[in-house]
Parts: sequence; structure tokens; C-alpha cells
Amino acid sequence: MKSVFPDTVALVEVELNKLLPAAAAPPEKVHHAIRWSVFAGGKRFRPALLLATGKAFNATTETLIKTACAFEMIHTYSLIHDDLPSMDDDDLRRGRPTCHVRFGEATAILAGDALQTLAFRTVAEDENLDVNTRVALISELARAAGTPEGMVAGQALDMEAEARQVNPAELEEIHRHKTGALIVAAARSGAIIGRATEAELDAVTNYGSHLGLLFQITDDLLDVTASAEDLGKTPGKDAESRKATYPGLYGLDDSREAAAKAYRAACEALERIDRPTTVLRSIVDFILNRTG
Ligand code: IPE
Ligand code: IPE
Ligand code: MG
Ligand code: MG
Ligand code: MG
Repeated sequence: MKSVFPDTVALVEVELNKLLPAAAAPPEKVHHAIRWSVFAGGKRFRPALLLATGKAFNATTETLIKTACAFEMIHTYSLIHDDLPSMDDDDLRRGRPTCHVRFGEATAILAGDALQTLAFRTVAEDENLDVNTRVALISELARAAGTPEGMVAGQALDMEAEARQVNPAELEEIHRHKTGALIVAAARSGAIIGRATEAELDAVTNYGSHLGLLFQITDDLLDVTASAEDLGKTPGKDAESRKATYPGLYGLDDSREAAAKAYRAACEALERIDRPTTVLRSIVDFILNRTG
């Protein structure tokens, strides 16, 4: 699976390795499960986005890296729980058996719970940030990960929508919550660490929100068009589970057009950020053209 920036992946993985409990420390099974899911070759997109946004606002890697890892912890927790039999019931994730297939359901639930709380602990205890910034970041993360504004709300809508036909507004709502919220918060958190003004934060929010929608439209498209090898997950599951997706509602061609529209909107949003945005632009290009 290709990432946005290979050097970011190495940086994030070295830091995650330091932040996560050792596999040999008790409870070993939960710690093994955490490391199984985290170190399985994810793209590290949210950390890369946070680092790139922070850099655009002149923040240092030192002040950004732990929060970047916190986003990857929340994200990986969301994947572990998303794959559970009671949710999407998936066997393959990041190219290996899912956490619950490998370690059992109870351990997978606990690994997700532990990752979520470790994320908040990581930000709360980051001595490279002043206390006010830590609180602002914890608030960002909590809003984006939870409910009613964030990922958990989106996951609830996604599950509920399996049983019925959704309209375009509902579909966009699901995608903006289940996936977009955390992506917006990753971009905003980089800008917050870089001391962006309120007006700059608004512009970053706008960029992140188009990028987040683009990310989930391409995820839906790849479920139809990509191979298990490129995806690291089982393709075709969305149609099988009658998920609310862009290809399901609009077909492939119109979904590609929706992706192009979100792509253009994200690029336009960047024009309103008066900072060096070349890297943020290359991230949008990467997401539009991603193959996994
Ligand atoms: C998959 O996220 C879940 C969605 C929110 C669509 P990614 O495509 O970022 O998964 P990894 O982290 O690279 O495995
Ligand atoms: C997942 O959406 C969003 C999450 C919060 C994990 P999907 O269910 O489409 O993600 P994949 O395709 O399983 O990675
Ligand atoms: Mg899902
Ligand atoms: Mg899923
Ligand atoms: Mg999907």
C-alpha cells in the first residue's frame, strides 16, 4: 500500500513504537493486538496531513508528532471496531487477518478501547505543547471521534443505513461524519499547533472537509474497482452488505465526477490559505488518484 510520503510513515512509526505499550507487558494479549493492528502497513494519511498542515503554519515536527500519532491511534481503533462481526464483519485489514479474527472479539474490543484512551493520554501528556494547546487538541479529537459531530455518529448512521435506501444528502452526511470529521480535525490540529488565526482555521476546515469527503468517495470507489492486494481489505463488501456508498447511489461514472468535484473544491480552498500549500495540494492529488 503506497503512502502519501514515505518519510512521514517512518517518522510516525518510530514514534508510535515508543508511545504504545510493549507487547511483552501485561495484558500481553491486548498489547499484541494493538501492535498487530497498528503496525500492519497503514497509509498514515491522517498523521501526514497533520504534519503537512502544521508545517505550512511553521510548527516544528517535535510539536506535531505526538498529536499526529494520537490521530493514528484513534483511526486504528476505529478500524478495529469497524471490522467487528457486529459492524462490517471483515476478515482482512491492512493486508492481514483483522484484529478479532486473530485475537478474538473481546480482545479486539479492548484493543480499540485502549488505543482510543492512549490517544487522549498522548496529547494530555505531550510536554512539547503548552497546556492550553493540549486542551484545545483534546477537544478537537473528542469532537471528531465521538458523537454527535464525529466519527461515532457517522458509524451509527452508516449501520442504520444498511437497512434502507439513503438520499444524496444523507449519504454525504454519513461520509462527512464517519470519515470526514477526523480528517478535518487532523488538518485543524496541525494548524492549531502552528498558531493559526481563527480565519486561517476556517480556511483549513474548509480544505479538510472537501478532502475528507473526497477520501471516503475514493474509498467507496476502490471497494468496487480495486484488488484485495492493493486494498489490503476484501473488495466488494459494500455491495454485499448493502452499504450506503457513492457507487451504490450514483454508479461509477457519477461517483468519479463527485470525486472530481470534491477534488476541485479542496484545491480552491487552498487558494484561500495564505501559506505555502504545495504539500497540501499534493495530498489532494494523492487522494484523488490513490489505488489503495
Ligand atoms: C480506511 O482508512 C477507513 C476509512 C476511513 C475509509 P484508510 O484508507 O486511511 O486506512 P489505512 O490507515 O491506510 O489502513
Ligand atoms: C469506515 O468506513 C469509517 C471508519 C470510521 C472506520 P468503511 O467501513 O468504508 O471503511 P473500510 O472500507 O472498512 O476501511
Ligand atoms: Mg464501516
Ligand atoms: Mg468497513
Ligand atoms: Mg470502505
